[in-house]
Amino acid sequence: EMYETVDLLKSIIDSKTKEFKELQKYLSPKHNIILTGCGSSYHACLFGQHLFGQIGINARAVIASEGDCVLPIIGSGTTILVLSQSGETIDSLDFVIKAKAKGAYIVSLTNVRHSSLDRLADIALDLGVGIEVAVASTKAFIFMQMFFVRLIATLGKIDLSGDLNMYLKSLTDLYKESGKKRAKVLAKKFVKSQSLFIVSKGDLIPLGYEAALKFKEIGYLFTENIVSGELKHGPLALINKDSLCLTLNRSNSKEMKHTVSEINARGGKVEEVSLPDLGMLTSLYGANFIHLVSFYHSILLDH
Ligand code: F6R
Repeated sequence: EMYETVDLLKSIIDSKTKEFKELQKYLSPKHNIILTGCGSSYHACLFGQHLFGQIGINARAVIASEGDCVLPIIGSGTTILVLSQSGETIDSLDFVIKAKAKGAYIVSLTNVRHSSLDRLADIALDLGVGIEVAVASTKAFIFMQMFFVRLIATLGKIDLSGDLNMYLKSLTDLYKESGKKRAKVLAKKFVKSQSLFIVSKGDLIPLGYEAALKFKEIGYLFTENIVSGELKHGPLALINKDSLCLTLNRSNSKEMKHTVSEINARGGKVEEVSLPDLGMLTSLYGANFIHLVSFYHSILLDH
């Protein structure tokens, strides 16, 4: 399922963006926009929140099971964009039912046509990545992020073609033996570790949460994502000579330099993931890489 990204991506490169233009009516700055989901789908919402901010539109990512906290601000000017691979997740359904009763307009993005969320929605969009059998969401998470990238590119009139082609090329390289080897080498470094701290920043923060979820879910490794600027506000106290940290960053960025020296100063070990700069698509490539690392990690552990 991870490897299917390449073919799915090829079909997207040639497809039209008609449905995004239709959505524009419900996603303007005058709307109260709430993005919601659970687990990996929520992480995709966090990514969407970041991208909406980049084009000056305020959208708020809310964990579906915590939807009650925003119910008082939901009304007829609210658009709820609910993401769910299965379309059946009960926490997402509960929240959407309550929001709809308060007059919110519901847009769903699911991977299962005629699912419960699909039937509740005013506009039901199809993720269209094909059946996902593995418990861990992989291609669905990648293409939920892709949905936001393409939506924001349409709303913000941003040309994606260069980055899409670069993404395809980087991905083809990743799935060659040399790319897989890089993932295996990194996975090996986690095998003996009792815990892992992931450090992320900016548009790669949702990727940090997603990576932490995957290492917990299929590697049973205690993993926490920490936003780099927050390290010094408490979590740094946990770093010692036995700590293993993974930084997520673009290869052409120096943003993590200070963070790495902070961790090293406390004796912690740092593995740096340097991602190619693919603009808004960097996080998608990062997820492809992390999913692969997580896969090899669980194999090395005999899970
Ligand atoms: C993680 C994972 C879960 C799901 C979550 C929501 O790998 O698969 O966290 O993302 O249970 O499921 P859906 O997207 O079906 O609503």
